[in-house]
Amino acid sequence: MTNHALRPVDALFTSGVRENPVPVYRALHAGGPVHRLNDEWVVVCGYAEADEVLRSPVFQVKDSAFRERTRPGWIAAHPSAAMIGDSVIRARAPHHERVRRLLSRPLTSRRVAGLREAALGHTRRLLDGLAERAAGGGPVDFVDGFAYPLPIALICELLGVPAGDRGWFRDRATDLSYVLEPAGRERDLSRADAAASGLMEYFAGLVGERRARPEQDLISSLVQVSDADAGAGADANADADGARLGERELVVNLVLMLAAGFETTASLLANGLGVLLDRPADRDRIARDPAAAAACVQEVLRHDPPAQVTDRWATEDTALGGMRIAEGTQVLVLLGAANRDPRRFSDPDVFDPGRPAGPSLSFGAGPHFCLGSALARMEAEVAFHELFARFPAMALAGTPSRTDRLALRGYASLPVTLG
Ligand code: HEM
Repeated sequence: MTNHALRPVDALFTSGVRENPVPVYRALHAGGPVHRLNDEWVVVCGYAEADEVLRSPVFQVKDSAFRERTRPGWIAAHPSAAMIGDSVIRARAPHHERVRRLLSRPLTSRRVAGLREAALGHTRRLLDGLAERAAGGGPVDFVDGFAYPLPIALICELLGVPAGDRGWFRDRATDLSYVLEPAGRERDLSRADAAASGLMEYFAGLVGERRARPEQDLISSLVQVSDADAGAGADANADADGARLGERELVVNLVLMLAAGFETTASLLANGLGVLLDRPADRDRIARDPAAAAACVQEVLRHDPPAQVTDRWATEDTALGGMRIAEGTQVLVLLGAANRDPRRFSDPDVFDPGRPAGPSLSFGAGPHFCLGSALARMEAEVAFHELFARFPAMALAGTPSRTDRLALRGYASLPVTLG
């Protein structure tokens, strides 16, 4: 990082800005769509430019080979970086297409529609739990009592994680997510490493069990298309037979699905409630009409996206938003800023579920577009409809606290009374 502490692009990496990055996004937009951070990095805040980076083959994800080139030894020293680096989210073509195709089967819109009943059941059970805890009229924490348990229950059900083990995951997935932070701190990285090792061991055990005794779940169906003898050390990018997963590929991607599947969705639920608590008319509409929930969820995703940032690197000399970009330059893509680009969205800071539908970049774009978007949206639509139908007078009860992260931005706590 440079010493120009007052430049908005540097301010992105300070704690206060992670708390509320919107003023910095505004300042960045005023200065143009692409900003140079230093010799190695540029930061993109413009919608069109961010979309271009995510779709263009010139800009690639940072796989383990790239990390080894830029930070020799770093991957070997950090199991969390190795795990993410070998997963689908960091895989390059053609391996990416093979792995993505296999992982996407259970997440199609049709399959997700089949999970709606399960989402409804879990939602009602969790709302009963909230009501019990709030029986005396006191506050309950929406994050602990609902936003995390709902997506954990659903993703674990989908994957086939035994119910008794589910409580164990939340802290580990949160710890793991710090590996995605742009200005990762060593202390957080150690926690991410411990979490990655624990989760890998857990899923390797579960894969072994399902190989011996298959069940009707995602792990069992992926075990069918994986090769145990590929070995835990198999290079995720070494095999291109087009249809099978190596053992390590299977395990790293199960960990990714688990972590990607609930940290983000929990933030969607909490960020959504955070904004909707101040908007009784929207809450009322959602309570009366489940279809109104869809538009609100789309707008929550644009206005306060759980994933505020991702990154890529330039594989050749190129240009972006009028700026020359040298081969090897790393590109920080500010999804949260792109969603508030005034050139793309009118009055971008206003929360308006009625704005003309148009995609935000909250689930990314291009070849790595989120595999779980249909699942996450369905969960949030069911949850908000049930929540506001049952507790129309829900209100904020105290000061909420935000998570100190930019890559995955949500709430650490959101105290509410149910009314
Ligand atoms: C609100 C909830 C969610 C948000 C905001 C979100 C966001 C994202 C984003 C921005 C990306 C692209 C990252 C990039 O291009 O660098 C992504 C990829 C991905 N997401 Fe999600 N996600 C959510 C929910 C889920 C769920 C529920 C699952 C799994 C069930 C999931 C699984 C994945 C996977 C596997 C990828 C990698 C796809 C690939 O690389 O081909 N996500 N997600």
